[in-house]
Amino acid sequence: MSEERLRRVRDRVRPFPDFPVPGVLFRDISPLLKDPAAFRTLIDLLEDHLRVSHPKIDFIAGVDSRGFLIGPPLAQRLGIGFVLIRKKGKLPGPTESISYALEYGTAELEIQSDAVEAGQKVVIVDDLLATGGTMYAACELVKRLKAEVLECLVIIELKLLKGSEKLKSIPFYSLLQYD
Ligand code: PRP
Ligand code: ADE
Repeated sequence: MSEERLRRVRDRVRPFPDFPVPGVLFRDISPLLKDPAAFRTLIDLLEDHLRVSHPKIDFIAGVDSRGFLIGPPLAQRLGIGFVLIRKKGKLPGPTESISYALEYGTAELEIQSDAVEAGQKVVIVDDLLATGGTMYAACELVKRLKAEVLECLVIIELKLLKGSEKLKSIPFYSLLQYD
């Protein structure tokens, strides 16, 4: 049954060769967002996973920008809040920031200093893990606020890039894996 639900989600991820630069096979989740039944199935699967794996979560943190698409509906289902981890210069007030390397470039992420409190339990979500640089940086920001990262969760993992190794001992979960 779960296999069938996974297939419904996988069928709505579209590959685009050589985007945004030559050599990158871009995994596009736009069809998943356009199909309400498939998107509901996605959130169902992620909710089921989190309810079993982490019964006590304080916040879902989403990574700019595609983490913002799945984080809020998932947090609503779980009855908890959502916090933003944004690209540099977008968040008002005191922030923590960190720069990191991407599969195609470099960037900087920020979190508001009062986003989470020391000791709170956070699950960080994004659409995709490639090299793991973005997720690792997001974990560092949450840890700087002395909160606990319970898990890093993505829809899609690009296994060949071995991004999960960068996360070391932080629990990691992906719904779909691609070579
Ligand atoms: C993509 C993706 C992840 C990140 C993964 O975001 O949504 O956040 O790259 O790559 P990594 O594992 O190699 O760090 P991108 O920075 O392209 O920003 P976007 O979501 O705003 O398009
Ligand atoms: N972000 C980093 N690498 C990506 C890829 N191959 N597809 C979609 N988003 C990405």
